Amino acid sequence: MAFHEPNVDFEKRKRDHLRLALSLKNQAIGKAGFDRVELIHEALPDLDFSEINISSRSLGFQSPTPFLISSMTAGHGDSTHLNALLARVAQDFGWRMGVGSQRRELNDKNAAKEWKAIRRQAPKARLFGNLGISQLIHSPVDSIERLVDSLEASGMIIHLNALQECLQPEGTPNFRGGLKAIRNLAKKLSVPVIVKETGCGFSRATLKRLSGLGLGAVDVSGFGGTHWGRIEGDRNSRSDARRQAAETLADWGIPTVESLAEAITLKRDYEVWASGGVRTGLDAAKLLAMGADVVGFAAPVLAAAVRGEKNLRQLMSSIEFEVKTVMFCTGCKDINELRKKKVWKWRGK
Ligand code: FNR
Repeated sequence: MAFHEPNVDFEKRKRDHLRLALSLKNQAIGKAGFDRVELIHEALPDLDFSEINISSRSLGFQSPTPFLISSMTAGHGDSTHLNALLARVAQDFGWRMGVGSQRRELNDKNAAKEWKAIRRQAPKARLFGNLGISQLIHSPVDSIERLVDSLEASGMIIHLNALQECLQPEGTPNFRGGLKAIRNLAKKLSVPVIVKETGCGFSRATLKRLSGLGLGAVDVSGFGGTHWGRIEGDRNSRSDARRQAAETLADWGIPTVESLAEAITLKRDYEVWASGGVRTGLDAAKLLAMGADVVGFAAPVLAAAVRGEKNLRQLMSSIEFEVKTVMFCTGCKDINELRKKKVWKWRGK
């Protein structure tokens, strides 16, 4: 990802990403670890289904749901319509929404207009800004504060994508100074900073290094869903070393469930959000039961939005209904109980 890449190249790359992310071969389906987690059925819940409450608290705010539409690419013509749709529906459902990388806005003031227009359509949506670590390292905090302002963001998400930067022909695999830049941002920015992966998860050691920096949250975004190694391999038409490596590393990453299991047993000062391969309300309920504060969905939401607003609303309603059903069948009246009551176990244990 060259820093001053021409806009036409940037837009084409983002359009390719949208298309390739939806291709099944670029999804590591079934590998997030959900099969390892079993929720414990409660045959006699002392509950009325109609009173089940999925509102949840995160970063000091109460929201109607514990869900997040995970950050997805913006920055080209087709995406304006999609982003506006996602923001409007997120507002209606009370889901948080992370916008895609705002990198282009750092150099092109016009790019902020797109977000301002979307914000006007969804004035009450809880939106989060987004920037890659490679850009953060070279950007003064003021310029990031402007990204927050243009979106009226509730927080700024910094994404880590080491594998993608190595395999992407335009990539900038230089994260030197990244931890220092994150600490500086968390100290100075007016809103909470969230650090996320993009489908390869976090190890226990990295999660430990992220404690004590003043972060609001870490989103583990683990292996088991959209895989950027596979996508970059698919995009690359040359038979070069990058393409070969993309094949070799097609299963690279720490599964979402494994990453979350590390995070919840760690002494830390940030919330844990979980995403990466979450495809149903049952998957989401497992992550919440394990202790995640917020659960994010990217590719499935995008796939539904591409098919239209009705599909998007159906998907989000069915995720909510599945989570409520699991809560009834585990005897949990609210998200706090689901997170605290230990209604899950490792399968076979
Ligand atoms: C993404 N993702 C992403 N993440 C990020 O922090 N900034 C970004 O700009 C993007 N762009 C992007 C575009 C598209 C088309 C997709 C599908 C995804 C990564 C995303 O937020 C998430 O971490 C992963 O996709 C894993 O979640 P799913 O897709 O398995 O639910």
